[in-house]
Amino acid sequence: MIRRHCWNRRRVLGALAALPVARLAAAADIDAKRTGGPYVPTPQVVVDEMLRLGRVGPEDFVIDLGSGDGVIVLTAAQKLKARGMGVEIDPELVLLANNEAKRRGIADRAVFQVQDVFKADLGKATVVTLYLLPGMMMNLRPKIYSELRPGARVVSHDYHFDDWQPDDQYTWDVPEKEAINGVPRATVYLWIVPAKVAGRWQVKVTGSGAAEEYELTLRQRFQELDGTDSRGARVIAARLRGGDIMFSLPGSGGRNIYRGRVTGDAMEGAVERAGGKGTARFSATRVKP
Ligand SMILES: C[S@@+](CC[C@H](N)C(=O)[O-])C[C@H]1O[C@@H](n2cnc3c(N)ncnc32)[C@H](O)[C@@H]1O
Repeated sequence: MIRRHCWNRRRVLGALAALPVARLAAAADIDAKRTGGPYVPTPQVVVDEMLRLGRVGPEDFVIDLGSGDGVIVLTAAQKLKARGMGVEIDPELVLLANNEAKRRGIADRAVFQVQDVFKADLGKATVVTLYLLPGMMMNLRPKIYSELRPGARVVSHDYHFDDWQPDDQYTWDVPEKEAINGVPRATVYLWIVPAKVAGRWQVKVTGSGAAEEYELTLRQRFQELDGTDSRGARVIAARLRGGDIMFSLPGSGGRNIYRGRVTGDAMEGAVERAGGKGTARFSATRVKP
């Protein structure tokens, strides 16, 4: 395994002296393009935990942005029967990862390509994994938020998306990391990409004695929601998890609790009516973004 980060100074200088000038220039060129940080492999135990947190399985397509030696996608394909792609700027690492996929007999499900992370097409991904420096996490955040489908999972090792709060996270002792970055601990984060629901919705509630129509205005900050309805009531306890939406509105004798599913400009689900009045149905259409 290539372990550039562990090389001491004398070994680096010895290795550099042995390299032809053209190769040195190529290596410097690659280093300049490593805008997400140097190659530092995620230990296998952390990879396993990332894939567990992302609930990766045979139906998934995993994209690792800055894939290094390919360990995340190789593990997903071999142990969990997923398919996947690694995107990496260093051609030597891409060659290494593709050769390893061939050696393990999984080259049809684990593919690696030389590409800048910003050029990666994320449309196919159900899971994106990351172990990139904090600045790159923030630079990639808009791309990940806008290109991934609602419900796609994003799993990161050690670094987060600042005020895009994770849906889950987990920190534990990993002694192997002491040699890698001097901290014998790892944190893994999970985000579930939320549906985009901001805007004005025309809502209809029917059944169980209910027949009402009103307009709902929702404001969204990642998975967090806030809003008001056309009768002046404020939305309470609103939350998105992928395309699953939950919110409450005051009703006579308590709260009407809405639980539904968003698909583009449509929403539908059930309303648990305030005061124990039973369960109604609701549907909504976005009339203005
Ligand atoms: C910390 S390593 C993580 C490797 C692997 N994902 C893992 O967790 O073991 C970051 C990798 O991202 C690559 N990288 C950095 N900037 C990049 C960019 N702009 N586009 C593609 N790859 C990049 C580096 O070459 C390095 O291999």
